[in-house]
Amino acid sequence: MSSREVVLTGSVAYDYLMHFPGRFREHILPDHLESLSLSFLVDSLERRPGGIAANIAYSMALLGERPRIMATVGEDFEDYRRALESVGVVTDEVRVIPGLLTASFFVTTDDTDSQIASFYTGAMAHATELSFADLDPPPDLVLISPNDPAAMITYVDECIELGISYFFDPSQQILLLDSAALETGIRGCEALFANEYELALIKDKTSLTIDDITEMTKFTVITRGEDGSDLYTREGRQHIAAIPPREAAEPTGVGDSYRAGFLKGYLADLPLECCGMMGALAATYSLEQTGPQSHKFDLAEFIARFRSEYDSDCDLDRLLS
Ligand SMILES: Nc1ncnc2c1ncn2[C@@H]1O[C@H](COP(=O)(O)OP(=O)(O)OP(=O)(O)O)[C@@H](O)[C@H]1O
Ligand SMILES: [Mg+2]
Repeated sequence: MSSREVVLTGSVAYDYLMHFPGRFREHILPDHLESLSLSFLVDSLERRPGGIAANIAYSMALLGERPRIMATVGEDFEDYRRALESVGVVTDEVRVIPGLLTASFFVTTDDTDSQIASFYTGAMAHATELSFADLDPPPDLVLISPNDPAAMITYVDECIELGISYFFDPSQQILLLDSAALETGIRGCEALFANEYELALIKDKTSLTIDDITEMTKFTVITRGEDGSDLYTREGRQHIAAIPPREAAEPTGVGDSYRAGFLKGYLADLPLECCGMMGALAATYSLEQTGPQSHKFDLAEFIARFRSEYDSDCDLDRLLS
């Protein structure tokens, strides 16, 4: 386990997944859109743990770390807290906001994979009340992932002010952050993480190209789904191949698992290329199970599979000390 204190920020949420046996479109009357009233009788409902910070923390804990999450949740969090603690996630800085529920994502999928979804922010809207200055011990490295947008901005400002290194992972909140906030977050970070689509959005909103971003950061990681990922530094670009899943794939949370694997390698001071390969393997474990916190492995098994998937010089024994 690394002696460096890493603090993960970002959403912590419940995902409520429903299935509607039928087709939404057969129930929507185009002539009556002004008085829409739809109710779908669903035949399954599953509540799953989710949220970016929690997903990343979960996979880091499987890899033998004791990651700390800093987030706000609701009164319905206690089951979830126990589950995270039981794998080794530290939740002391996960604050319950009285009278509110944990952020919740509700999605109903029909037989044609059409979806109707709602996201309730709930207690996450209070995330901006938390501060790194209150943490003991203070963090050596922070991850700023999708969260209440005001909190993401506050956390960036605090990290810059307090001189704390951070990885910036704005992902789906790129849409809600204005160009100045995005640019400040990127200029100040040690590393930027995004997928290909998000990189295009960043360019659209800020006019920053990957070359500009590479100049501003120590490194940038762009993930490209089954096409793997690319690491950009001032020395150039390194491509990391993806690892095909052994069984049927369900992609929710792959990006989060990638970040967890990457961080584990990074905390052990492995070369960036090895960190990327660890990210890719952690992502594939997640891909092989349904849900972002359903995969299971331990560090020894992970290392053994890494060696069978990649022919590399990565010194993974260092992870065991
Ligand atoms: N179909 C796949 N096969 C193998 N590996 C994959 C596949 N999809 C994703 N991965 C792995 O996961 C990494 C991250 O995937 P991706 O770029 O899809 O992230 P994302 O879009 O942020 O995902 P998320 O839906 O979690 O936000 C990839 O770089 C790759 O290593
Ligand atoms: Mg993502």
